[in-house]
Amino acid sequence: MDDLKRGGIAVIDYGSQYTQLIARRIRELGVYSEVFAHDGTADHINQHDPAGYILSGGPNSVYEKGAPTLPRFILDSGKPIFGICYGMQLLTHSLGGDVAASTEREYGSATITHTPDSPLLDSLESELQVWMSHGDRIEQPPDGFIPLAQSENSPYAAIGDIDNKRYGVQFHPEVSHTPQGSAIISNFLFRVCDCDNKWTPTAFIDDSIARIREQVGEKQVLLALSGGVDSAVAGTLIHRAIGEQLTCIFVNHGLLRKNEPEDVVRVFRDEQHMNLIAVNSIETFLTALDGVTEPEQKRKIIGKLFIDVFSEEARKLQGIDFLAQGTIYPDVIESAANSKSAKTIKSHHNVGGLPDDLQFELVEPLRDLFKDEVRKIGTALGLPDAIVWRQPFPGPGLAIRCLGDLTWERLETLRAADHIFIEELRAGGMLRDTTAQSFAVLLPVKSVGVMGDNRTYEEVLALRAVTTDDFMTADWARLPYDLLARVSTRIVNEVSGINRVTYDITSKPPGTIEWE
Ligand code: XMP
Repeated sequence: MDDLKRGGIAVIDYGSQYTQLIARRIRELGVYSEVFAHDGTADHINQHDPAGYILSGGPNSVYEKGAPTLPRFILDSGKPIFGICYGMQLLTHSLGGDVAASTEREYGSATITHTPDSPLLDSLESELQVWMSHGDRIEQPPDGFIPLAQSENSPYAAIGDIDNKRYGVQFHPEVSHTPQGSAIISNFLFRVCDCDNKWTPTAFIDDSIARIREQVGEKQVLLALSGGVDSAVAGTLIHRAIGEQLTCIFVNHGLLRKNEPEDVVRVFRDEQHMNLIAVNSIETFLTALDGVTEPEQKRKIIGKLFIDVFSEEARKLQGIDFLAQGTIYPDVIESAANSKSAKTIKSHHNVGGLPDDLQFELVEPLRDLFKDEVRKIGTALGLPDAIVWRQPFPGPGLAIRCLGDLTWERLETLRAADHIFIEELRAGGMLRDTTAQSFAVLLPVKSVGVMGDNRTYEEVLALRAVTTDDFMTADWARLPYDLLARVSTRIVNEVSGINRVTYDITSKPPGTIEWE
């Protein structure tokens, strides 16, 4: 891995909401990139011998007391530096240029025109649409810098010291609202920093397999397989590395969606030939949840029971030394970005809280990957789209989408309706690209209807579909009326027990994505 990571780009985080996106864009171009806290030590930030540095944007003004600074060792390294927004102001300020404090923010789309003088921009059309989001602006670039682009509001939309390979842009090349942004980043990587594009799924897989073998040796590894993307890809990768030494436990708690338990067994046991123990615990879970309607209580019961069932199965196995987890980079990045030491990062435990007699060393092969990279690795490993492109699904499963009595019959009703919704979204080409999460919720409400000549008195179903990038905020998906009409008709006709379908048009906030 060290070889794969060497010669990439260190992204220095100054607090922009887009910092992670910078690293993702770089990696999409085949170059390894990692995000570091701006107050990280030189040894830590330089651990993979980066070919260059990108300084992210951030909310501060360089003149503010306590504003984050540019580490001296970065300037002294002589390596290329690319400052974005606050990063550009910081570079300017650190090298003796003038930054003008401003009380007004320039926010939104802008057009820039650039000069044909720099490897950063000269391959692009002379007029570019870019996304601005900044307060302060450059008044006077440092010595050695020349203006490379202007906007209506700024004579220094981009600046550069070409000999010393230092650049700054006032706009955000990492966001999709800057259509040529990726080309600008690519120019920095390949024409300024001379990076190799060696960060590819195949290279990652080969490297990862070698590392897993080295870590595990002849020993045994255990994995809790949920069928979700992360554990599925982690499991498949580990299985490639050590085959029979991996045992997976899949707990079927009866709260999964239609066909999911069967799919997990088919894909991982029958197609991938993995050692898979499928535990049917439906009865245990439903008994424990009988009469429970309070959402937090449901979560607690399910979390604890899951650990109990998993531990019981694990104890039956002899000689396990390692526990594999599908931890991914965003799980570890947040606290790392605010800390001097990468070792204090939070570890996310998919199977957290195991009892004392079941303590294992962790194997976390996806720890360096963003979600979109995990999906690419899954595809490269031959996993089917249905697994690789699964939407996030909460640990407590359908228990928090089946409001009111949690009976097998109501769960089956919910599963059937949810399946129709997903089927129609997929048929309409909207499952993957238009909605980030989409599902049905069975409500504990009955309403009157009429079917044929008969009065009905049955339950109400809510459909929920949201768009979001980060699941912290979300908007309800503007699904076509035709599609909603088809889903509604099919559900009322095909699923007994439901006579009314509603569509949830609440954004988050104030709503949450789930109903419980
Ligand atoms: P909310 O409902 O809080 O959901 O807007 C945000 C995201 O988190 C998922 N979610 C959960 N995931 N255990 C999980 O593993 C939970 O208890 C849980 N509750 C919500 C939800 O599906 C959405 O993706």
